[in-house]
Amino acid sequence: MRRLRTCIVGTGYVGLTNAVALAYLGHEVVCLDVDQAKVAMLSAGKIPIFEPHLEDLLASSRERMTFTTDYAQAIPKADVVFIAVGTPTGEGGAPDLRYLQAAAKSVGEHLGEGFTVVVNKSTVPIGSANWVEAIVRDAFQRRAGEKKGTFAVASNPEFLREGSALHDTLYADRTVLGADDQRAVEVLSELYRPITDQTFEPLPYLPRPAGLTTSRLITTDLASAELIKYAANAFLSLKISFINEIAELAERVGADVVQIAEGIGSDARVGRSFLQAGLGWGGSCFGKDTAALLATGREYGLEMPIVKAARDVNWRQRQRVTDKLLNELKILKGKTIGLLGLAFKPFTDDLRDAPALDIAARLLERGASVRVHDPVAMARVKSDGKLAVHFCESAHEVAEGADALVLVTEWPEYRRLPWESVAKSMRNPLILDGRNALEQQQLTKAGFRYIGMGR
Ligand code: UDX
Repeated sequence: MRRLRTCIVGTGYVGLTNAVALAYLGHEVVCLDVDQAKVAMLSAGKIPIFEPHLEDLLASSRERMTFTTDYAQAIPKADVVFIAVGTPTGEGGAPDLRYLQAAAKSVGEHLGEGFTVVVNKSTVPIGSANWVEAIVRDAFQRRAGEKKGTFAVASNPEFLREGSALHDTLYADRTVLGADDQRAVEVLSELYRPITDQTFEPLPYLPRPAGLTTSRLITTDLASAELIKYAANAFLSLKISFINEIAELAERVGADVVQIAEGIGSDARVGRSFLQAGLGWGGSCFGKDTAALLATGREYGLEMPIVKAARDVNWRQRQRVTDKLLNELKILKGKTIGLLGLAFKPFTDDLRDAPALDIAARLLERGASVRVHDPVAMARVKSDGKLAVHFCESAHEVAEGADALVLVTEWPEYRRLPWESVAKSMRNPLILDGRNALEQQQLTKAGFRYIGMGR
């Protein structure tokens, strides 16, 4: 394997996971971020996000990693430069590309003498690769003196899930490479070969899935790679919203959506995953990417009613918590409601677009007093200071004297609570299982009135 020199611009989830994974595979990695504090933290071996095993793998790959804020140090020697900066939602749903633009300009100003592949790793609108190309070229050409180097831009969208980011990177279902330049495809194929051929030594804490011998590499043109990312996230979003819509009907006709999901998911054409009904999706990707897809559609005069409906159904799921509690408790004013979980899903401290925040705000609006607990995400809500909720040290404290509990994030520790004593400690032992993650029979036996989502 040829050891390639890579630079990753942006040390968020995507950038950092890829940096650590590439270093583990044997490549040299320079992580570049404009945030001095982040760079200092990473240099000290600490990671600024909560992601299982990332810090461990950083420790074992440190010798091939450096951290800097300086483009002049990082870019000239790199064979491959990944741009993995944030692209938050801007006005009208389209992503804000300021950081991408600034990064592309700085990369262009510092390109070295050889051939460099500049890779768009951030989720960016269709056509961004051409735009980045133009920015890099412009900055490169403005440089004084002789310019010997050449470059090509490629698109390499990211499909990792938070909480299993390293697993999804090392054991990727597929790697998508979009490029118009064959040399770029060759360099990136070489870079990813240990993954596509699965030749790296698996880690004890990240064993290779049984039967995985190769991981697919899909090469496309630039625009297709860009659209693959949006289409993949939109499809997953609508799968979740579809099962949530069926869940609502199931509830009305007296059926159980968990059994329905099993029944339809067993059809290989449908597939079992992403059919878990509940409070719907949150996180940094689905909401942002479906909004961006709609914005792109609008730009080209195309309505996208399916994507729009997936979003509408998703926001409705959050409203359903208040509706269900109102139905059970009649009056929420003065009642104490406990929320178990704040993060948008387990194994992350990420609160971006987390259903819990919306649900808490709606309950507070109705005059309820809200108690919350999360094993890792509480500090962020506390420091934000926007929600007037009561932060609890444990699930027990959340439950004590409460009128209802809502399971918002299915952290494993919540599945194993001593339910009998939890029920006894409540004023009213009512539980709304917002993720259909608990054992209905066990809870009923423990003295709870159990309500699920679509059961
Ligand atoms: C997602 C995509 O899965 C990933 O490929 C992409 O790169 C980024 O966006 P992520 O946001 O980390 O990843 O989380 P994911 O595990 O996909 O879950 C997203 C949300 O959907 C969570 O809030 C989760 O609770 C919810 N979800 C997921 C459901 O409600 N039901 C399901 O069946 C699956």
